[in-house]
Amino acid sequence: MAQAQASERGARRKGFRSARLDWPELHRIPHPPRRVPLLGDVIGSSVQSPVQDSMRIGRELGPIFRRKAFNREIVFVWGADLAAELADESRFAKHVGLGVANLRPLAGDGLFTAYNHEPNWQLAHDILAPGFSRAAMEGYHPLMLDVARQLTAHWDERSGAGDAVDVPGDMTKLTLETIARTGFGHDFGSFERSRPHPFVDAMVGALSYAQRRNAAPPLVGPLLQRGAAKRNVADREYLNSTVDQVVEARRGSDGSGARGDLLDRMLETAHPETGERLSPDNIRRQVITFLVAGHETTSGALSFALHYLSRNPDVLARAQAEVDEVWGGSEEPAYEQVARLRYLRRVLDESLRLWPTAPAFSREALQDTTLGGVHPLRQGAWALVLIMLLHRDPAAWGEHAEVFDPDRFEPKAVRARPAHVFKPFGTGARACIGRQFALHEATLVLGLLIRRYDFTSDPDYRLRVDERLTLMPRALRLHLTRRTPAQAPAAAPA
Ligand code: HEM
Repeated sequence: MAQAQASERGARRKGFRSARLDWPELHRIPHPPRRVPLLGDVIGSSVQSPVQDSMRIGRELGPIFRRKAFNREIVFVWGADLAAELADESRFAKHVGLGVANLRPLAGDGLFTAYNHEPNWQLAHDILAPGFSRAAMEGYHPLMLDVARQLTAHWDERSGAGDAVDVPGDMTKLTLETIARTGFGHDFGSFERSRPHPFVDAMVGALSYAQRRNAAPPLVGPLLQRGAAKRNVADREYLNSTVDQVVEARRGSDGSGARGDLLDRMLETAHPETGERLSPDNIRRQVITFLVAGHETTSGALSFALHYLSRNPDVLARAQAEVDEVWGGSEEPAYEQVARLRYLRRVLDESLRLWPTAPAFSREALQDTTLGGVHPLRQGAWALVLIMLLHRDPAAWGEHAEVFDPDRFEPKAVRARPAHVFKPFGTGARACIGRQFALHEATLVLGLLIRRYDFTSDPDYRLRVDERLTLMPRALRLHLTRRTPAQAPAAAPA
């Protein structure tokens, strides 16, 4: 309650709050050396890659630093000790700012973008959380397999024709179909299309716009971005109308099609204690939220994992041996056989360590407090946690923190590390509600793919990462060859 009230006071301050206003000893926090009058820390930074620029700057300036663009100043934190303090829910809570706040016109008080004090956050959280229980996940498993089958059919065809596969594009098709079918009983038909579904184009447009708005100068920005703003309105309208059709189709059905999925929960379930229901407007916000949050980050996670598997033949061979052993002769796993792929989960965790596909989250102070014993901040003041650098802090991960090594996630190694140093799914009450969904889906799909194929990447390929609030490897293509699983019955006659 105290958290909600304090956050309410923070949230009700309108618009962006520069760190200058709320960090009384801001001068103690370093900033890049060549600050340009009026413009701020613009030298060497690009609107296309704000996170990777911040990462480079953070490495030079240390575990807490600040950057200024025009009159907006932001404090960044990545040191393991300071990030652990920000994870303390008695002192800090989620801050809805920057890119997340820029998504409010689209997602409103949907789960991801809701302010902590908004009543619809708790209401929707309580109604939807059972949609991610073990029982619910078990129900999604066959649908996840259906979609994965479409992917392997497509990849068989491509590799049979001697073509490389478009990893980020196909992972996006897969994850969009998975959340749409499991959550909403909707089929976007992604695998029947050569181009991405227009929903994906509109979503990428909306996410990129939300990211770039932060870099625009405050007064002239809206003028400079007039064209982009117009496109953004069109993207939003398209996303809204798509979602309205999905909801209408379900409302129009006679009820015999009830599936107990997320959409049924949104439409039919009352809060277990108060009896309250989600309003039609809020349902629209939630459907958009889940369709976007439920696929974009998982497709990036799968793509980075496939990149690392293709570059580390020893790791791939070990993961393949595990799948062959755990799944045995069964081409498709039962629900409980997925979680038993422990090494493959470590591969996924290690990929999410190096490239957490939601690369930052913000935290705000619930009361006046001091960070790290030296940086006072007022109630409502906020900082951005750079997850990518937190995950590479040598103090927590050792001097070879940049090296891909899934063994870092062996249980003994995990126990030896401090808490709060691995945060790909955020932290506290506002951490990712879809974590188990994403992990089950990604492990299942990786298991199916590495059981079926060997991968090679173009030797000239250099990992470059696109940013659109989320991270995605740019233009990653892989060549596939079919393999025969070691213990499958098919292996015997040969
Ligand atoms: C690898 C995949 C994923 C990653 C890396 C990821 C990451 C995150 C992070 C970091 C947050 C917290 C953001 C903040 O503090 O501002 C978050 C929240 C959220 N995520 Fe995910 N996510 C993933 C998959 C999913 C999936 C599959 C779903 C839905 C099926 C989902 C739905 C949500 C929602 C609704 C929230 C807001 C929760 C709340 O505030 O109550 N995410 N996610």
